Amino acid sequence: MNKPKIYVSCKTIGDAVDRLKERFNVTYRDNPHPAAISEIQSVVRDVDALICVLDDKIDSEFLSSCSKLKVVANVAVGYDNIDVDEATRRGILVLNTPGVLTNATADLAFALLLAASRRIAESDRLVRSGKWSGWSADFMLGRELSNKTLGIVGMGRIGEAVARRAAAFGMSIVYTRRGDEEKDSRLKDVYGAIRVSLGELLSRSDFISIHCPLSEATRHLIGKSEFARMKPECILINTSRGAVLDQAALIDALKTGRIAGAGLDVYEGEPGVPQELCKMDNVVLCPHIGSATIETRAAMSDLAVDGVLSAFAGVLPRNAVNDEIWAKSVLSGAQVTERGKV
Ligand code: DGY
Repeated sequence: MNKPKIYVSCKTIGDAVDRLKERFNVTYRDNPHPAAISEIQSVVRDVDALICVLDDKIDSEFLSSCSKLKVVANVAVGYDNIDVDEATRRGILVLNTPGVLTNATADLAFALLLAASRRIAESDRLVRSGKWSGWSADFMLGRELSNKTLGIVGMGRIGEAVARRAAAFGMSIVYTRRGDEEKDSRLKDVYGAIRVSLGELLSRSDFISIHCPLSEATRHLIGKSEFARMKPECILINTSRGAVLDQAALIDALKTGRIAGAGLDVYEGEPGVPQELCKMDNVVLCPHIGSATIETRAAMSDLAVDGVLSAFAGVLPRNAVNDEIWAKSVLSGAQVTERGKV
């Protein structure tokens, strides 16, 4: 029997691709840098499954040219690069990699929080420049985390992992999240965290960390009027997606001293980063490395591959984003309706 065809658009870590080879005819673009979308499109036209990364724009035009495609597995928890509605209309199962990057991303958010509040990148630059002239009482003063309020915008898995770290640092936590109140009492018991409106979070927080996914509802969630409500000493951290912040409004807020600083891992228009941000000493910049640990990147590759293998074995993967299409998918065995083990 002919094996189904799969295209892997970007470098994976570990033995993920070897595991695919047992079941698939694999085309592996073993390249750490994202391909031009036209290059991917020309190959994917003929494949049954695609493993892709967040820089691959899987929009409706792309999907319309891939009539055989049954599964798209994004090696990322965020899937704003994929038109999931269109995939759903076409009966294409979309997978992501939730859970495995929670700690890595929370660690980076916290690293940025500490780096921005204690001016670590700025200090490092100064020492390297040879301009450090010795200890003095008012030199490189930063802000402490303990007894301060952290506002977490989006209290999902990663937001909660940040809350865990913040509680250990003696911070008070306020947060926003979607969904019913069931989880709120646990978050209060475990971290002392209190759910508030976005407006209240903005005005109460000394530090704000963004952890909501990018969607049409959250695009530019934080813009000019939201910056206007923040404390002038507020430091803003973003490890989610650049476009959740209005970047122009952020630059303005930093320039005018509306807020005190920022720690950013994500940007609008990546990999481009505005020169204005690069010139600011009160901003710590990372190149979208939230999930970039050896352990996590291997786990992300594995989860994407496990999901594809599971779907083609007729079992709905746990990491399906649009599982409502499963019953109609040609991959689902007639009697398989329960979520399977990935
Ligand atoms: C994600 O998973 O969405 C990160 O941004 C990339 O690892």
